[in-house]
Amino acid sequence: MLSSGVADGSGERLVWSQKYSVGVDEIDADHKVLIELIGQIDSAAAGSEAHAVIGTVLAALFDYTEYHFEREEKMMQTVGYTVLPQHKQKHDLLKSQVIEYLGRYSDDPNAVNIEDLSKFLQRWLSEHILKEDMGYRPLVENNPKAGEAAASVGIDFFMDVGRGD
Ligand SMILES: [Fe+2]
Ligand SMILES: [Fe+2]
Repeated sequence: MLSSGVADGSGERLVWSQKYSVGVDEIDADHKVLIELIGQIDSAAAGSEAHAVIGTVLAALFDYTEYHFEREEKMMQTVGYTVLPQHKQKHDLLKSQVIEYLGRYSDDPNAVNIEDLSKFLQRWLSEHILKEDMGYRPLVENNPKAGEAAASVGIDFFMDVGRGD
């Protein structure tokens, strides 16, 4: 079945492919997880427990996004990427936008248009990887320090955030 409404010219669901590779396995893996989580928003919208599932997916998406930004920023810092402050600003803006969506959604699930949210997130991630993340690629690919730095921000951080303690 075609996912209704998502087809508006910018079209079909975002899928990871080589053109999104930034040259560091850990970061590529994160981007795949984020794409997968965003894809689940659409799938959840069609289910009978849509509100509960979407709330859970949005919370997981926020946690994973925060974790991903953390390790990406650590990696950029390690390799001396001079555009880091501007890049971090874009991360921070997205985080605040997702928090706003989460707040609106928990106040009233009907107040958030899920198709719009899904399209916004897909477009944001696709453009961010291609235009912003690709900027650090020349510094990080084939650079063992980059992979080490990314790996040093582990999943523990994500789990801690997820537990909210
Ligand atoms: Fe980024
Ligand atoms: Fe990224």
